[in-house]
Amino acid sequence: CGIVGYIGTNDAKEILLKGLEKLEYRGYDSAGIALRNEAGVHVFKEKGRIEDLRHIVDPNVSATTGIGHTRWATHGAPSRANAHPHQSASGRFTLVHNGVIENYTLLQKEYLPDVALKSDTDTEIIVQLVEKFVQDGLPTAEAFRKTLLLLKGSYALALLDEQDGNTIYAAKKKSPLLVGVGDGFNVVASDAMAMLQVTDQFIELMDEEMVMLTREHVTIQNLAGEIVSRKPYKPEIDASDIEKGTYPHYMLKEIDEQPLVMRKIIQAYQDIDGRLSIYSQIIDAVTQADRLYIIACGTSYHAGLVGKQLIEKLAKIPVEVHVSSEFVYNMPLLSEKPLFIFISQSGETADSRAVLVKVKEMGYKALTITNVPGSTLSREADYTLLLHAGPEIAVASTKAYTAQIAVLAILADVAAKSRGYSEDFNLVHELGLVANAMEVLCGSKEEVEQMAYDYLTVTRNCFFIGRSLDYFVCLEGALKLKEISYIQAEGFAGGELKHGTIALIEEGTPVVALATQKDVNWSIRGNVKEVIARGANPCIISMKGLNEEGDRFIIPKVHELLTPLISVIPLQLLAYYAALHRGCDVDKPRNLAKSVTVE
Ligand code: G6P
Repeated sequence: CGIVGYIGTNDAKEILLKGLEKLEYRGYDSAGIALRNEAGVHVFKEKGRIEDLRHIVDPNVSATTGIGHTRWATHGAPSRANAHPHQSASGRFTLVHNGVIENYTLLQKEYLPDVALKSDTDTEIIVQLVEKFVQDGLPTAEAFRKTLLLLKGSYALALLDEQDGNTIYAAKKKSPLLVGVGDGFNVVASDAMAMLQVTDQFIELMDEEMVMLTREHVTIQNLAGEIVSRKPYKPEIDASDIEKGTYPHYMLKEIDEQPLVMRKIIQAYQDIDGRLSIYSQIIDAVTQADRLYIIACGTSYHAGLVGKQLIEKLAKIPVEVHVSSEFVYNMPLLSEKPLFIFISQSGETADSRAVLVKVKEMGYKALTITNVPGSTLSREADYTLLLHAGPEIAVASTKAYTAQIAVLAILADVAAKSRGYSEDFNLVHELGLVANAMEVLCGSKEEVEQMAYDYLTVTRNCFFIGRSLDYFVCLEGALKLKEISYIQAEGFAGGELKHGTIALIEEGTPVVALATQKDVNWSIRGNVKEVIARGANPCIISMKGLNEEGDRFIIPKVHELLTPLISVIPLQLLAYYAALHRGCDVDKPRNLAKSVTVE
């Protein structure tokens, strides 16, 4: 979910709606805004997108103060009633919330046994508590602080008091929230992108801090009531980075940006002599560990699987890769000197953060690889490596995946060289070739679009098979297709399909096979024959030099360890065109959010 708030002298409605549009990547199943003017607080909410909300906001209500929310449902189905803002019983207080309050039923029993809640959300309890404490005699700021002290879980909040037009109250714990400062106005938002339209000066908030915004002032205090002072900073992104330009979809733009991102990464990690280099403290931490634990979710997890191969093959350090949500409750036996590596495009994923919090409590060191400087996972880890991919807006991750693999390759290479291995491997040169190959692939859109037509127009499912590194890319290719086209897709290890799943192959079932690895070229082709014998419609994507007659698509040759960086591109495009042909919303697939800030 994402939240925004504005207090100033301009039209709050438009600023809030624009801000929410920029936050839609955090969820888009319902949205709402509350506007405060002399006549009181006016709440508008709607199921669906910000666009739908726009249609129901009364154009005659004008206000210079307001808060807004875009939701990814956790407690309670997506509906108008469950959409934020929520109001207290008397309607005096109005609140938007991102996060999960774990003890809301207990709080209700203890403090508000007689209040009937209007929604099924854990959020309403917060606003009802504020009202209760105000009715008990506390001023609003104190009632807000007292409420915050009772909440267990995560929150980013913004609160309006109908009786005080001069203040927005906000607070954060474990969910991101920033203050933006302006001349004669101030804002809050879940991320800077939402408010770049009005300011480029932001102040970070820390967990368990609350803030009072007026038109002229920002007052931050901790939950003990002590005032905190902190200077604003200017984020690295600017407003043009987050526009689509001439592209029909962000996803296509981001696929096309991949060669540029590769070059940016090479540059960012080169020292003045042109050698790849990483802050020595990070390399020491990596090389002194007896085992690395990569922790991630979704696409970032898939990048981690490739990263393990790179680190083990080049630097010869053992690596385990784990899905965050499993690792946190079912931790394996750890080695004696582990180092944790968190991979997260957004740096905000709650599942990954839960692991980070736990391993930090256990006294271990952590490195975050993220696209967002200053994100929660970056701030809370000991070290950060940045992806330099620029904002990724489409929900389906593309350029962040390849950037993650490239940064992991650089980490593997620098660690390898510091341990005296892989001296003859010239990664700068190899990544340069990758960038060129990516360009060629981004130029093959028509060919891939035709493939999408041929294989995916009518099918209800699709399999992706590959061996060794190709297998991991198949997992990612299948995820891309599922996410945006809703075709049921599975990535399989080529040799494993026959141990059960091959039962699903029917006449005409598309099976995409990757063949970029010399050692297993003959065996993956054997697996393709097995599925053809059962009626499958094979689509072989091979690397130049390993290609055979009948292969459907040939990708340029790059170093065998780096093939995932380029073999994924036709799979990204395949998913894109399949979704497009099926009339799906490419950038905002159903049920998903780009950044899932709840566990
Ligand atoms: C969400 C997104 C996925 C993403 C995953 C991890 O589920 O829909 O595309 O891979 O979160 O996100 P992160 O920001 O931690 O890489």
